[in-house]
Amino acid sequence: MSTTTRNRVAVLHGVNFDILERRDAALYGGRPLSELEHQIKAWAHEAGLEPLFFQTNHEGEFVEYLHRSCDLADGVLINAGAWTHYSRAIADALDVAGLPAVEVHLSDVEAREDWRSVSVFDGLVVEKISGKGVEGYREALGVLARELGVVA
Ligand code: DQA
Repeated sequence: MSTTTRNRVAVLHGVNFDILERRDAALYGGRPLSELEHQIKAWAHEAGLEPLFFQTNHEGEFVEYLHRSCDLADGVLINAGAWTHYSRAIADALDVAGLPAVEVHLSDVEAREDWRSVSVFDGLVVEKISGKGVEGYREALGVLARELGVVA
């Protein structure tokens, strides 16, 4: 009998994450996305997960990646940036993907402008983690590892 490990996690970043180091350091840490992904990769491996990274500033490309995600990955870690607050198209695509997903935000979206408290992913994600900076990603990976039954 063969067993298949379900440990592939699509780590998706949305609009404006390609210039993360140029955004407000007090909110987003001042580090480039490449460094953030490097850190996420190390934590993912510690948790027994295999990360696949994707970033785009184009909503349609984000949607199309989600369409493919059920073939590429077993779980989703999503920080869609500002799209989080209004893109029903991305929410619908995440729903269709049918994978366990965790939503992450570097900043504390609940403590900022009212419109940032709204998330189109409500009810679609296992958990929403915000305001914990980079550490939030480690927590999210732990949640996904548990969801996927991955034991490191
Ligand atoms: C963000 C929060 C969003 O409100 C914002 O538009 C971003 C980043 C975060 O990680 O804190 O682009 O998703």
